[in-house]
Amino acid sequence: MAITILVVNGPNLNMLGSRETDIYGHGTLDELMAGVVAHAESRGATVRHLQSNVEGDLVEAIQAAGDGSADGVVLNAGALTHYSIALRDAIAAVDVPVVETHLSNVYAREDFRHTSAVAAVCVGVITGFGATSYRLAVDALIDLLGD
Ligand code: DQA
Repeated sequence: MAITILVVNGPNLNMLGSRETDIYGHGTLDELMAGVVAHAESRGATVRHLQSNVEGDLVEAIQAAGDGSADGVVLNAGALTHYSIALRDAIAAVDVPVVETHLSNVYAREDFRHTSAVAAVCVGVITGFGATSYRLAVDALIDLLGD
């Protein structure tokens, strides 16, 4: 059966294209997700995606993945990455692999971005490759789930 991957984008990622373009580039979230969907399809996987500025929506999306709505999760939690214990607990509570994913290299930025509340309960972290970060995360999940 085809692998279903949920891509979860957190706060302010709806503003891609106009937000801090020197860091995040000029591509919009719609363009980013279209590329991820096409890449997953080329590998025989299905991608669903959502974006929310609300922490609880991300928690519920992770919980739903744990209930079977997805086989794996690509998570760009935005700033919530750096402090959301609720998101960490949600990831720890489900038996679904989650890849922490970032467009920018968070370790080349401000100190507060060097801390992740979620990394320790994720299967891995991909950071700094722009749109390619998402495709790498999809590839990692396909390889992991296909074994
Ligand atoms: C981000 C990095 C975070 O530190 C920041 O708060 C974001 C985007 C990234 O994709 O590079 O909103 O997750």
